[in-house]
Amino acid sequence: MTLGVIGFALFIFLRLFAVTGSPAEKFSPYVDDQGSIRLAEVYRVDWACLGSWVVPDEKTSGYGFHNVYTQRSTEAAYQETGKFPDGAVLVKGIRKISSAHLPTGHASWAGDMNLWFVMVKDTKGRFPENPNWGNGWGWARFKADDLMKNVCTDFKKDCIGCHMPAKDTDWVFIQGYPDLR
Ligand code: HEC
Repeated sequence: MTLGVIGFALFIFLRLFAVTGSPAEKFSPYVDDQGSIRLAEVYRVDWACLGSWVVPDEKTSGYGFHNVYTQRSTEAAYQETGKFPDGAVLVKGIRKISSAHLPTGHASWAGDMNLWFVMVKDTKGRFPENPNWGNGWGWARFKADDLMKNVCTDFKKDCIGCHMPAKDTDWVFIQGYPDLR
């Protein structure tokens, strides 16, 4: 009994120490000290869905049903300031497209998960040596078969060329997000 109480007190102490003793101001729960980006799977539970895109042609590289999410605090900050705050995360989940004739007409809907694209806002240029960081963001891509592995190796090769049309809106295609535009 006494041992249990001591053990519990020790546990609480160590937990507190772990929190307060960690390196000052951890940047993001989804980014480690080297700038490796982790997929924030919590997005599905309580993040805001900013908007959806449909690219129906299977022969194009963007094929799929795209849903874009961000933290609710990011959505609120953007609405107030017109800027993405430090640590903002944008997750674009791409699903295959299913469709059929339904009572509404020929309907299409989001099918199986295929891949994810992630951007993490970094206003301080924290990882100048890491090729997945630059232009104010960290850039990542995950495939459904390995959620732990960022398959983006260099944002200049893998991402930025396509994002040029969104250069003036901090590389984000704002027109697709009704609550931000
Ligand atoms: C083939 C062109 C293309 C490539 C390559 C590409 N993107 Fe995008 N990305 C887009 C377009 C266009 C949109 C918005 C429209 C859409 O999804 O169809 C978008 C949207 C996004 C979004 C949602 C937020 C926004 O900007 O609207 C994220 C996050 C994203 N891309 C991350 C990435 C990352 C990270 C990479 C590199 C690993 C990457 N993209 C590579 C074209 C591309």
